[in-house]
Amino acid sequence: MANRQPLIAGNWKLNGTRESVVELASAIASGAEGLSTEVLVCPVSVHLSDVLAVVGKSPVRLGAQNCAEAESGAYTGEVSATMLKEFACEYVIVGHSERRSLYHETSEQVAQKCLTVQKAGMTPILCVGETLEEREAEQVEAVIAAQLDAVLKVGNVEAFRQMVVAYEPVWAIGTGKTASPEEAQAVHALIREKISSLDPEIGSSLRILYGGSMKAENAASLLGQADIDGGLIGGAALDATSFLAICEAAASTVEKSAS
Ligand code: PGA
Repeated sequence: MANRQPLIAGNWKLNGTRESVVELASAIASGAEGLSTEVLVCPVSVHLSDVLAVVGKSPVRLGAQNCAEAESGAYTGEVSATMLKEFACEYVIVGHSERRSLYHETSEQVAQKCLTVQKAGMTPILCVGETLEEREAEQVEAVIAAQLDAVLKVGNVEAFRQMVVAYEPVWAIGTGKTASPEEAQAVHALIREKISSLDPEIGSSLRILYGGSMKAENAASLLGQADIDGGLIGGAALDATSFLAICEAAASTVEKSAS
C-alpha cells in the first residue's frame, strides 16, 4: 500500500471573528506540534492574514474554502487562486456540497476551479458526495463517477496527481449522522479504483478524506479503514480540543501501521 500521510482539514465555513479565529488557530498550532499527520485549517479569506500570523511558524497548513474559476478580471466579489497563494495557502476546498447546492456550482465549474488552483501551485481538495435521495435510489456510484469524470474530462488522470478528494455524503454534513466506517470505505474504494484503473500509481497515492459529522468519538473507526486517509471536518473543527482529538486519532493510525 502506498504511504499516504493522513490529512486532517478543518473547514471553518462562515464562522468566527478575527479574535476568535486567532484563538482557535493558536490552540491548534500548539496542539499539532509533533503529530505525524498533516493538519490544515481553512478560514474565510478575510481571516487568512490573521490566521497566517499565528500558524505561519507552526506545522499547521493554511487553506481556503473556495476560489474563482478565473484568474483575474471583471468578477466582482470573487477571490482568485493566485491571491490565495499570496497568503501562503497550500490547499483550496473546491466543490463543497454547500457551494454546489446553495451557489449552484456545476461539476464543470468545479473541474475548472481544480485546474485554476493547481496552476497557482496549490492543491485542490475536490469534494464529491451523494444526497440522501441519490443514495436511496442506489445512485451513489453513478453520482460520484460523474463528479470525478468532470475533472477527468478537462484535466485527465494527471489532474489527480496534485489533488486530494474528499468524500462527503451530503446527508452526513452538519447533521450528526455519519456514514458507517464500512459505508464510507466502500465509496472510498470505488473512488480509488476508478483513478487506479487509469493510472495505478496516481490512484494508490491519492489521499481520500471522509467528511460528514466526523468527530472525536467516531474518528478512529473511520480513519482505521484502508482507503480513508483523513478527514474534512466542519462542526468539530471549531473547537480546538475536538479537532486535535481527531488529529491524534489520525496520528495513531500512522503509528499503528509503522509498528
Ligand atoms: P461537518 O461538516 O463536519 O459539520 O459535518 C463537514 C464539511 O462540511 O466539510
